[in-house]
Amino acid sequence: MLAALGGTPEVTAPHPHNDLCAFSPADKAVITAHLDAGGTTSYYGRDGELREFEDELAAFFGRAHCVAVNSGTNALHSAFFGIGLQPGDEVIVPSYTFLATVSPLFALRAVPVLADCEPDTGTIDPEDIARRITPRTKAIVVTHQFGHPVEMDAVMDLAERHGLKVVEDNSLAFGATYKGRRTGSLGHVAAFSLGSTKMVSGGQGGALVTDDPEVMERANLLGHFVRRSVTEVSSPFYRRFVTTGYGHNYRMHALAVTMARGRLRRLDELVASRHQRLERLSAGLSDLPFVEPPVTRPHVHRGQWGGYTASYDAEAAGVDIDTFVSALEAEGLEVAARGYHPLLHRAEFFRTAEDGYYPAQPWHAKRLYREGDLPRSEWHADRQIAFPIFLDEPLELVDGYVRAVRKVVEGLDALRKTARQAASAV
Ligand SMILES: Cc1ncc(COP(=O)(O)O)c(C=O)c1O
Repeated sequence: MLAALGGTPEVTAPHPHNDLCAFSPADKAVITAHLDAGGTTSYYGRDGELREFEDELAAFFGRAHCVAVNSGTNALHSAFFGIGLQPGDEVIVPSYTFLATVSPLFALRAVPVLADCEPDTGTIDPEDIARRITPRTKAIVVTHQFGHPVEMDAVMDLAERHGLKVVEDNSLAFGATYKGRRTGSLGHVAAFSLGSTKMVSGGQGGALVTDDPEVMERANLLGHFVRRSVTEVSSPFYRRFVTTGYGHNYRMHALAVTMARGRLRRLDELVASRHQRLERLSAGLSDLPFVEPPVTRPHVHRGQWGGYTASYDAEAAGVDIDTFVSALEAEGLEVAARGYHPLLHRAEFFRTAEDGYYPAQPWHAKRLYREGDLPRSEWHADRQIAFPIFLDEPLELVDGYVRAVRKVVEGLDALRKTARQAASAV
């Protein structure tokens, strides 16, 4: 019997099932080694292990420059500032992404223009980007959502034809490839989080990589005044400002550098471990009706696979997603209906002009959205069930998830019957 109807839960392991914020023994080893060696607390210049880490990241992505910062959000801010966005510039962004892909645009008073996604993968749809380009469009931002690369050939083709910059948010796709090329090396600049839930994590942190020296210099000036900018900023125009910088302190903590660098060295091992678990989950769900594991197109590899959502067809199943997910939770699973985060165009910030932030002048006018404006994103997100992104948990736990989902699908008749009885009792 389903646990939701009084039966025994399938999974009894205590929560959280997947603690992405925990220090691993390998993290502890590199941090201890740094402390024992009398390592620094702070890199004011581009020195020591920070320099080595940035060089390794630049080499990993095949880029000339890397600037490490203290969060993915600030890496994106640095990238947006780096490409020279001005107030009122329109930037096409996905609605189906984490808010920080877009929110640093607010600080520049640039105007996010939300675009729809591809229905199967949830990644931004290049055809919808094309429809939203205007003479004021300056850039496109893409998220390789949950590790699935965006169709970058089409995006870069559009960018070239319209003279636009492309920023990749590679936070969820470290190590992913698109047609054999690494995500993060495909646009003009890539920014990513090295925060606690990411595979290459320092607990907090972020970085950008680019081949463009002007982007690199502007990113240095935005968040790294004096000692770092003095050595990194050499062009005559920007050199005049190295002592003041442009007003922020985005330095990455020294221990975060050490920890993230240790994770980068173990990336292949970590990716293999996650893929083993998430592919096992997908294989266990693949023959079920009403539940579809995430789609991975043949020409891509998901790398760190920074999110796992399965699609649930409530209409065909005859049980709404909230009831279905509650039944999974009753079985002991840590799952969530409609993905990890709400769509951006459903957030109040994108629904009102009176946001206490954007000036009212018409050239700053923010785009506002209503339900129905991005139908494929709504359709996609409303079907998603978010799972833990297993990393090194016992395979038995993954098998427990498979058994629990199968049990609830097999118990749909009982859920329908209970729902009918509840409705007729009202
Ligand atoms: C896609 C995406 N972009 C940006 C960020 C922001 O990174 P941070 O939390 O390091 O600021 C995250 C963090 O979860 C993310 O998932």
